[in-house]
Amino acid sequence: MKALSTLLNGSPLLPIIQTEQPEQAVAIAEAMRDGGVKAVEVVLRTPKALAAISAIRAALPDLLVGAGTVLNAEQAQACSWAGAQFLVSPAATPKLLEAMLSTGLPLAPGVQTVTEMAAAHEMGLTELKFFPAHLSGGPALLNAVRTILPKVQFCPTGGIGINNLADYLALPNVFVVGGSWLTPAAALQNADYDAVRRLTEQSLQIAAD
Ligand code: 3PG
Repeated sequence: MKALSTLLNGSPLLPIIQTEQPEQAVAIAEAMRDGGVKAVEVVLRTPKALAAISAIRAALPDLLVGAGTVLNAEQAQACSWAGAQFLVSPAATPKLLEAMLSTGLPLAPGVQTVTEMAAAHEMGLTELKFFPAHLSGGPALLNAVRTILPKVQFCPTGGIGINNLADYLALPNVFVVGGSWLTPAAALQNADYDAVRRLTEQSLQIAAD
């Protein structure tokens, strides 16, 4: 199984796409791609999320597309069939981990506590989503676990945006940051995809500084 960090190849942002319409998902993904992002995560929180994954794969073959909010075995398998190239989950129960691993796709299961991090590490996983990052201690918590679990790398999400993404990316145990800040509700309501592109560029500039 390829590691998610290997797939992302140094790309620092993993933006979330949540929409009711596959066509809108493609428009958002295109704006993010044009802004410089290499991968997007479509969250399974709307009925057409799987169709959105397939639509983005078909329309934008140069962009990596993963599935997020994967919470059970059926979803993990369905995402793989829909064309997802990696899986992200807010949780890491033993059953879910087994199902995600069985797809063979790169993955980032979610953890919040040191015990959950250690349990996932015991199962051989070294790349984990830290969620909800801001509410769970933010960069200070990740810094504190650095020497306890030196081999674990994190993808923090939850409460990350323009103002704090650099604090997370400055940590040596953070390989990418994720979240929904590139798609403000107003931009989606007005189909203002150029605003999404500009926010993407701005965020990548901050990540590079
Ligand atoms: C996730 O699924 O990772 C979170 O919903 C992202 O949180 P955010 O909306 O605060 O970025």
